[in-house]
Order: sequence, then structure tokens, then C-alpha cells
Amino acid sequence: MFDLIIRNANLPGGRKGVDIGVAAGKIAALGQKLEAEAGHEIDATGWLVSPPFVDSHVHMDSTLSLGLPRLNESGTLLEGIALWGELKPHLTQEAIYERAKKLCYWSAARGTLAIRSHLDVCDDRLLAVEALVQLKRDIAPWIDLQLVAFPQDGFYRYGKSEENLRKALKMGLDVVGGIPHFERTMEDGRLSVQALMKIAADEGRLVDMHCDETDDPLSRHIETLTAETFRHGMGGRVTGSHLTSMHSMDNYYVSKLIPLMAEAGIAAIANPLINITIQGRHDTYPKRRGMTRVKELMAAGVPVGFGHDCVMDPWYSLGSHDMLEVAGMGLHVGQLTGMSEMAACFGAVTQAAARIMNLDGYGLEPGCHADMVVLQAEDEIEAIRLRAERLFVIRRGKVLAQSAPREAVVNFGDDTRRVDFTRANLG
Ligand code: FE2
Repeated sequence: MFDLIIRNANLPGGRKGVDIGVAAGKIAALGQKLEAEAGHEIDATGWLVSPPFVDSHVHMDSTLSLGLPRLNESGTLLEGIALWGELKPHLTQEAIYERAKKLCYWSAARGTLAIRSHLDVCDDRLLAVEALVQLKRDIAPWIDLQLVAFPQDGFYRYGKSEENLRKALKMGLDVVGGIPHFERTMEDGRLSVQALMKIAADEGRLVDMHCDETDDPLSRHIETLTAETFRHGMGGRVTGSHLTSMHSMDNYYVSKLIPLMAEAGIAAIANPLINITIQGRHDTYPKRRGMTRVKELMAAGVPVGFGHDCVMDPWYSLGSHDMLEVAGMGLHVGQLTGMSEMAACFGAVTQAAARIMNLDGYGLEPGCHADMVVLQAEDEIEAIRLRAERLFVIRRGKVLAQSAPREAVVNFGDDTRRVDFTRANLG
């Protein structure tokens, strides 16, 4: 007797016709035609059932603040930074909490049940830290939040960063962040990576640094981060986010760097929506794309996640926290159109991202948390193509969110067709 059985599911990777039995909030059994009763049955009817989406890189302290105190008229990074500076003195803990919580409703509806959020610790009041630590506790039954202490104005460039960062970790933040390319000099950037890695190693923390988020082919903080990962034996626990400089680096240099990253066990997170809109802005034509070398990193075995980064904030006026939109953009920008490459883009917002976050109990195996999304799509590629509807979002074996199937009715005179754009409906 199970609490829930999902019947006739397709799984990522290609298994079809699988029943998933859930007991006590965990996946208890997977197999063809499970002969068991359940308190609740969901017929997946051959749709894809995936572990939940994971957003491994977003900023929940600025999310949904679009228009405060004014819109980003130029749509540029510089105006975005200026806007954040204007907004910061007016932030309140309550307002940050409410906006971040509103994003959680959107996330749940989109089937995104694990989120790594960077939080600016260069506000001496640490309002965002207070707000998000509270939200992390309140939302834990439904969404896993992992919070990064992010010295957004620079670890050395902003005088109180170290004090604030250490305080934020004590207050409940999980991960050590950084922004070496924003320090005053390349040397300060290198030193900041070393200092932050030491803090993380001493405190047993994961690391996720904004790293080389420029178009400068000589910005090489990822090299230092990789070397420090070796030095501290922190493989599997360190991530370089953005890494957009890698797009512009010399090919010979990268041919040394990527194998080193793989050997160190460091992970990479690209933010396709943001990288494609912010990078290459100083170029006329040809205009660089700016996303890191996802294809080559994946081929070398480096775990690659895709993050949303921004949702309706000073830097990015768009988005609805749909990780399938992120996967689709990553696929296009990286020309990841091979069959296994497209599936890997789905992995970048599910399995690979979960691995980067060191999530426990994630996946579709017996013993994993019964956290799943039933998508209106046959497989991962169709899910990306259609930004498929999340028919059911399940958390610990219970339905957390539900959406009606997407369908349009078209009348060509007497010929009426229901259109849902899926392959199953082609004939
Ligand atoms: Fe970011």
C-alpha cells in the first residue's frame, strides 16, 4: 500500500511506462505495472516525470523589484547597477521577504523546488540575510533554499565585506560567494579568491563565486579558483558562476584550463538569459555571445548547471522563473542541438544542478525524496521545445501545484482540432 502511485511515466533518459510508488514522502518503488494500491493515483499517460527543477543561481534579494525606484530604461548592466544602488537604501526586511516569497509561489508553480540564491552582504544592515534566513525556514516544507553570502561590491573593494560575510554565515547562510573580477585589480581578485576559499575550507562550506563575469579574455580568476580547489581538497564543493570570460579566452589556454577544472572537480554555472543580454555590449559587430564554453565543459565531464540569475529586477526586466526557458536559451546560445546535448541542457536545470548544490535525496530512485514534476511532454527535448506545462508538481509525495494541460481549439470551418503542440498529438 502506497500513499501515491504515478502510473505510466516516461523518465529522463528514456525509460517508458514506469510506475512510481511513494510511501512516507519517499520513492518506495519504481517498475512496470506495480501491483499495489495507493491512497492517490496520478495517471501520467506517457508524459515525462522528472525530478524537480533546480535553479542553481539566482538573486532573491533583488527579485521582483522591477520598477523600484524606476525602470532600467537602457536595459544595460551599468544602469542596472546604478538602480540597485538607488534601491538599496530604501530596502526593508519585510519587502525583501515578501518579494522573495512571491517568487517561491512562481517557483513552485514551475516545479522548481530547489534554489541557490546569492545574497548581497555589502549592506551593513544585512536586511536581506535576515529576510531570506527567515524565508528559508518558513518555506522549507516546500522548497529547499540554499543561501550564498555574496560580497557583491567586492571582498576587498568594500571595506566591511569580510566582517559582514562572516556574520552572515553565522546568521544561517550556507555558501561562501565572491566576485573577484569586480575587485580593484586583478591581483586583489586573486587574493580575494584565496581568502574566501580559506574561510570556506576552515568553516566546511560550499563555495560559489561569480567569477570572470566579463568579456576580458585575460580575466583568469577561474584558474585561481581551480588551483585553490586543489589546494584545499574541495573537489565537488566549489562552483564558478558565469565564467563568461572563457568565451573570449585564447583557445590554447582553454585547452589547459578545462582539463584542470575537470581534474579539480570544480563545477560551472552559466546563466544563459543574462549572459546573452549583458555580455558583448562593448562589441560592435561581430558581437560575442558571452556564455561560457558549456559544450566543451560538459564534454570534459565538468558538471554544468544553468541558472536564471535574475527575475524582474534592476538587471533583467523579464522572466517568470521558468527553468525550461533557461534551458532553451542555453541550448540555443551554446548551439547544443545534438540529441544528447539537448538532454544535457535539461540536466543542467535538474540533475547536474542538484549535484552542484550537493542536494541530498534528489532523483528518481527508491529512497529519494518523492519530489517530482509531471510535464506535458514526452521527453526532455519536447519539454524544452514547449516549455511544457507542469501538470503536477509533487513535494514529499503530495501535490504542491497543478496546472491544466495547455490546449488550443482551432476551427477550420467544420474541421475542429485540439492542438497542444506535442508529438503525441501530431497524427
Ligand atoms: Fe548572479
